[in-house]
Amino acid sequence: MPDTFKRKIKVAIDGPAGAGKSTVAREIARRLGCSYLDTGAMYRAVTLKLIRERVALADLERIEAILMQTGLDLENGQRVFLDGEDVTLEIRQPAVSKLVSPVAAIPAVRSRMVALQREIASRSTSIVMDGRDIASRVMPDADYSFYLDATPEERARRRQKELMGQGLELSIDEVTAGIEERDRIDSARADSPLVITPGALVIDTTEFTFKEVVALLLDVIRAESGCAPDAATSI
Ligand code: DC
Repeated sequence: MPDTFKRKIKVAIDGPAGAGKSTVAREIARRLGCSYLDTGAMYRAVTLKLIRERVALADLERIEAILMQTGLDLENGQRVFLDGEDVTLEIRQPAVSKLVSPVAAIPAVRSRMVALQREIASRSTSIVMDGRDIASRVMPDADYSFYLDATPEERARRRQKELMGQGLELSIDEVTAGIEERDRIDSARADSPLVITPGALVIDTTEFTFKEVVALLLDVIRAESGCAPDAATSI
């Protein structure tokens, strides 16, 4: 039975690629009975559109025009629709992963995505959002802010496993190189880079299982919101 809260709650989960944010955030949302938004999926969908339209990333005028004509729908953390087409699997392809960080560094792309994300948050009763700038920009008023991290080796291992589950076989070296490059761009960009915001609870998940991380976050949220933690969520 999901929890019900008397007031609207907003949960921000930030962190680098492969830290397990999306799987944890999706499960937290399910357990709390909140909406879930995978903001990385939005940047990926825009990237796919730019690839399909063969747009040069320097062509900012064309990118802005395309952004205005692009329809993005996310079905509560399950499926991603680009102009009505289900692109859930396609946005995980290596070609998209390779280009998504440079695309996400473009200020026009970010301001459009942030506006959409805030609109979705304002429409939701309660929401869990994961990304890179959720606490720093999208929901600075979040009730709970977590920063999930893990060693680069562990993040690469997790990402490789996730990709395998989608039928994509990449060597650990390829996955590591991709993650390192995305970390570098996501942390160094001028517009809302990946940062640890003051007040965020930083959790190094390297030694934790998925279940333990979920339990830890749920315990923090429930304790602070007056819900007693149940036995199932204790680590
Ligand atoms: O979470 P992910 O790996 O699917 O995210 C894909 C890319 O999108 C990531 O390299 C950085 C970018 N991103 C971002 O800049 N801001 C967000 N809120 C979410 C993702």
